[in-house]
Amino acid sequence: MDFPLFHLDFMGNRWLIAIIAIIHVFISHGLAVGFIPMVTLLEFRGFLSRKISLDEQQRWDKLAYNFLFVAFVITTTLGALTGVGIWFSTSLVSPDSIGSLIRVFYFAWFFEWIIFAAEVILIVVYFLSWKKSNSSETAKKRHLRFGLFLSIFSWLTMAIIVGILGFMMDPGNWIVKKNMFVGFTNPLYIPQLLFRTPLAMIMAGVIGLFLASLFLKKENPIRLKAFKFLSIWTLVWVPHITVAGLWYYYKIPQLMVGNLPVAVATQLFQQWYGTLLYTLFGFVALAILISLWTLLKPQRVPKWAMVIPVIGVFIFAGSFERIREFIRKPFVIGDFMYSNSMRLDDYPLLKKDGILPHATYVSTTAVRPENKVEAGKNVFMLACTRCHTTNGINSVVTRFERMYGKDKPLQVEAMKSYMQSMHKVRYYMPPFPGNQAELDALAHYIKNIQQYPEPLEGAQLGGTPVVNYDLDKIEENLIE
Ligand code: HEC
Repeated sequence: MDFPLFHLDFMGNRWLIAIIAIIHVFISHGLAVGFIPMVTLLEFRGFLSRKISLDEQQRWDKLAYNFLFVAFVITTTLGALTGVGIWFSTSLVSPDSIGSLIRVFYFAWFFEWIIFAAEVILIVVYFLSWKKSNSSETAKKRHLRFGLFLSIFSWLTMAIIVGILGFMMDPGNWIVKKNMFVGFTNPLYIPQLLFRTPLAMIMAGVIGLFLASLFLKKENPIRLKAFKFLSIWTLVWVPHITVAGLWYYYKIPQLMVGNLPVAVATQLFQQWYGTLLYTLFGFVALAILISLWTLLKPQRVPKWAMVIPVIGVFIFAGSFERIREFIRKPFVIGDFMYSNSMRLDDYPLLKKDGILPHATYVSTTAVRPENKVEAGKNVFMLACTRCHTTNGINSVVTRFERMYGKDKPLQVEAMKSYMQSMHKVRYYMPPFPGNQAELDALAHYIKNIQQYPEPLEGAQLGGTPVVNYDLDKIEENLIE
């Protein structure tokens, strides 16, 4: 509550982060973590065939180089931009949680940054020195070593970030010990890392198959061999992802598993949860089948079929990220901070005093009869807007109308009693943080925007009031 609040009233704030983060995961997993070791192995495959046929070596080498060209262009542009974009969007939408994470993981991020910088240097070297590396065997060996280091560094950056992602879901003993290392080795760390690693390899494999079908003409003598190579690469990771995926699933805290139906299908369609889940796994099964087909009958697989595994695996990976983000609710950092950016430890105080007197950027620090709707608007901004809008995506008005009937005026008392226990009925929502007067003001505000819809401007559009920290005044307000 110490930051002015950025808010997108039509599309909702969650989507801003989700879109950027999902694009970034596609690129970082599919074209870096999984792709670089695959390219290095392709280059090595060529190197091994040098004794049999120089022509063949050159063809493998060219394929690997073309692959790297694609990865290089995309990772250093869109990949880097979306990486920075995650920092921008998350610190806009949830500055308190990013602040807490930086405090806990300062050194982890410090090392991650150094490793990331090394990764960028290595990919530039690996890419730019490729042509020269074909001048001699020693040069090629050195070049392959660069590929190996780059693969390790790409994986390491992911390995560090996954520690932080796991922490946000379940901080484990950190809650008691408050020690970075304990937080880093949280219960979900290893299962998630072991799941993401083969996921990245499989994403790379299906992208590789698709690219190979574009780069290698029918008459190219290595075409079928390359298809086989890439389908084996993809299939080898399937048992691995299955075991790790199950382990990961069983490690997810029970209450989060309870959020799965809404996470997958939203409240409205949650009875379709099963169907949607099967569809998701169906996409993966299809990707595996097409890889198998490519392995057994590479000459038979048409070009267009290579697009299907890419789409299937990407839908799966995108859904996995979206679901992971959702089931963490009501927390942004498990058992420590709710998604509304308020800490669990502060709740007793906030319930007693109210949230308004403790917020820095509000237009009123207390609820009075003459400012009820205005105070309610501030309460809504602080307590609900990280997930709801007034009239856009996940609009609070339509959510209440869905419960109490559309086109009927919303009732203040009914809304109040719902909000008092909403966290018990809908576990994905945090408990209402404020006091009774604020609850009343919030219900009046929601009723008001149902009657007179008015978009709620975030600080980026509407500017922000600053509370004059006059302690006497705050005390006066508290007495009122
Ligand atoms: C952590 C995110 C989050 C916060 C914070 C949050 N909500 Fe929700 N709320 C949701 C989600 C997600 C849904 C379900 C949307 C759907 O239908 O899939 C929901 C649903 C609802 C519903 C409909 C429930 C039902 O049973 O259909 C109401 C009413 C509601 N929210 C009110 C509020 C109010 C008022 C606040 C602020 C005091 C609030 N919410 C804060 C995430 C949140």
